[in-house]
Amino acid sequence: MIQQTLVLIKPDGLKRSLTGNILTRLSETKLEIAAAKVVRVTRELAEKHYKHLHEKPFFGELIKYIMGEFHDRRKVLTLVYYGEDAIGKVKELSGATNPEKADSVSIRGAYGRVRTSGLFENVIHASGNEEEAEREIKLWFEPREIIFDVYETEKVIRNNVSEIVWKEEK
Ligand code: PPS
Repeated sequence: MIQQTLVLIKPDGLKRSLTGNILTRLSETKLEIAAAKVVRVTRELAEKHYKHLHEKPFFGELIKYIMGEFHDRRKVLTLVYYGEDAIGKVKELSGATNPEKADSVSIRGAYGRVRTSGLFENVIHASGNEEEAEREIKLWFEPREIIFDVYETEKVIRNNVSEIVWKEEK
C-alpha cells in the first residue's frame, strides 16, 4: 500500500553531523522524499507532537530534547517519505525506540544513546502507523509544502487571501 510517513532528524542527529549518514540509510528504502524542511521547534509544536505522552515522567525532558535544549541545536530536519509500505520500511530501518534494545545495524542502534536520566536520545522519530502519520504530517507541514496530495485539503479565505489548508475533520 502506498503510504507517507513523517521523519524527524532530532537535534542530537544534527549536532553530531549524522544527517548525511541517516539520509543515506533512509535511501536504502527506495522511498521518495515528498517534503523536507528545517524547523525551529517551539514548545507548542513539541507539546502537540508528543501530546499522547504528557503524563509520562520523562515528558518535560522529551520536550526539552526535541526543542534542542540539550544539544545547542534548536532545530530538527523534518521530512515526509512516500511510497510502498513507507511506514513499516522507515520504522524498521529506524530500529526500536530504546537505542540500547535496537538492532545495532538500525539507525537508533548505531547512533542513539540513553541519558543517565533514562531519556532516550534516539536521533530519529518515525511515525508508528497511518493514523499517527496523518496527525504528524498535518502538524508539521502545510499542504503546499508536500509534492503529493497526501490528504484532503480545503480552500479558506484568511485576511482576504485564499489559502489551501488541511480539511478539518467534521
Ligand atoms: S507510545 O506509548 O507507544 O505512544 O509511545 P511511543 O510511540 O513508543 O513513543 C514514546 C516517545 O517517547 C520517547 N522517549 C521514551 N519513551 C519511553 N521511555 C523513555 N525513557 C523515553 N525517553 C524518550 C521515545 O523516543 C518516543 O519518541 P520518538 O520521537 O518516537 O522516538
